[in-house]
Amino acid sequence: MADLTTSYMGLELRNPIIVSSSDLTRDEEGIKRCRDNGAAAVVLKSLFEEQFQVGEDSQAQESAIYPEALDYLKSGALMEYAPQQVFQTIEKAKKQVDIPLIASINCQTPKLWPRFAQQLENAGADALELNIYFLPLDLETPGENYEKSHLRILREVKDKVSIPVSVKLAHQFTSVPYVSQRLDRDGCDALVLFNWFMVPDIDTETQKTRNIKGQGIFHQCLKWVALLSGRLGCDLSSSGGVQKADHVVKQILAGASAVQVCSLFYQKGLGEIKNLLSGLEEWMKEHKYSSIQDFRGEVSFRKQQLSFKDMGQAKAYLRAQYLESYL
Ligand SMILES: Cc1cc2nc3c(=O)[nH]c(=O)nc-3n(C[C@H](O)[C@H](O)[C@H](O)COP(=O)(O)O)c2cc1C
Repeated sequence: MADLTTSYMGLELRNPIIVSSSDLTRDEEGIKRCRDNGAAAVVLKSLFEEQFQVGEDSQAQESAIYPEALDYLKSGALMEYAPQQVFQTIEKAKKQVDIPLIASINCQTPKLWPRFAQQLENAGADALELNIYFLPLDLETPGENYEKSHLRILREVKDKVSIPVSVKLAHQFTSVPYVSQRLDRDGCDALVLFNWFMVPDIDTETQKTRNIKGQGIFHQCLKWVALLSGRLGCDLSSSGGVQKADHVVKQILAGASAVQVCSLFYQKGLGEIKNLLSGLEEWMKEHKYSSIQDFRGEVSFRKQQLSFKDMGQAKAYLRAQYLESYL
């Protein structure tokens, strides 16, 4: 039998499949279902700053951001997922399951990131995923400022906790490698490629905007996992668009230590974890790999780069590929 174990951000996982942050991992029953169906770890539903503010009026006044978001929450939309409940969920789930629980945070106010992080660590989370989301709307703010915010958030969280910390990145950076390297140097234990956002649309009948749920972008994730793997100290996890075992194999070949999956389980149920794992095992058997380590990163840029004389030659090769697709 193939050895499916993998190490991800210092956590030893029984296989590479992680159920990504979503309502599937919102409470202890959901987490248990993920575990019983074979998930190696779960990322809990993100804890959003606004939920915290609903419960603490003084805090809301202090930072006073997005009153509309607060009103929405106060109307009851996310009330039942208040921070205290998340902490209790972690405490209860820790007693019921033996897989790592990665808690997820999404804030706007800088000082709340480390505060939440500490509370989640105290509640028993095994690791943290920072779900960092900025929408660059301001005409005057250079991209560099957003990058600096990522680094500041990571550093402040790392200063407060001793558990591993990953960053779930957006893919819209000018240079994903540059930001990734800076985060890596500042102690990031893993990068999750990529975050997923609502995408805008226009209703032509009402002539109003509307948001639709974005799709995980499988090939975008694959590309950047392959381009970064083996070039950073931290681990990589892909997140986006995985629908079948073949996709899991591809992400690992590109260099992912773990593969996060969400929509597939919404569409077809958590029973799909078994199919992903059996498909992965079958592929490994067919290609005579006995462990994940035997083929992880085999098709990464780093591996191919070794056959180039230098980065210049690698760039020339990629340029030739680009031209080939046009000519
Ligand atoms: C219903 C739903 C809720 C989600 N909630 C969160 C969340 O709270 N935090 C987060 O970081 N990602 C959240 N996500 C995004 C997923 O974690 C994942 O990144 C995204 O769905 C892409 O992966 P997929 O293509 O496998 O679905 C959510 C996704 C769905 C479908």
